[in-house]
Amino acid sequence: MVAAYDSHVKYSGANHKSTRIVAVAGSLRAGSLNRRLITAAHRLAPPELALTVFDDLAGVPLFNEDLEASWPDGPGAVRELRAQAIAADGVLIATPEYNQSIPGVMKNVVDWLSRPDDAAVLDGKPVAIMGATTGPWGTRYAQKELRHALTAAGALVMPQPMLFLPQAEGAFDDAGRLTDPAVARRLGQLLEAFQEWIGTVTPMRSAVAAAGA
Ligand code: FNR
Repeated sequence: MVAAYDSHVKYSGANHKSTRIVAVAGSLRAGSLNRRLITAAHRLAPPELALTVFDDLAGVPLFNEDLEASWPDGPGAVRELRAQAIAADGVLIATPEYNQSIPGVMKNVVDWLSRPDDAAVLDGKPVAIMGATTGPWGTRYAQKELRHALTAAGALVMPQPMLFLPQAEGAFDDAGRLTDPAVARRLGQLLEAFQEWIGTVTPMRSAVAAAGA
């Protein structure tokens, strides 16, 4: 039931799950297609993935170095965003596309999580991206730009598979399920690949950090 994970922070369930993912949709719109894509991911996640949704994007202020200097951990929503990202083994992002780029709220999340400068939350963090749009190209430009900004922040962005969801107005039924089984299958594959990606790059990252220490 969709409502089961429509409150501020949601968990997909059991504590025995081994890989923790925090998911963020880069849209403030109540009927966001990207938020629905995250809901669909929640349904399709393999049992070992514990998927938490960060849902207070509206509470995250525009990044401002003065604000950061006077309040290093940021306001409540930023603290929550940071805490969820730090606790997670990986971050899953569903981005809209605005003017062939990422929406301001999406970039704002990347900017907050690229701090503090010497220990960015995103540095070394596995990230997977996907996107839904009403347009014909499925957020290709936005994903390219998001990948670029995330990489600049040190995130380990999964290269493949990619999920571009074009003309997504009809992609979900009233219960939030993907109507096209082929798209649902691709989303399931992306989640499985992300779990594998996390399992591959996290030990490598730790080994590199240990070697440099
Ligand atoms: C859009 N949209 C859009 N779509 C696209 O594929 N390429 C684009 O360049 C743009 N540009 C754009 C600019 C602005 C200002 C808006 C408001 C919208 C359409 C956009 O993808 C569509 O509204 C999605 O539904 C937005 O995502 P959410 O809010 O449904 O998650």
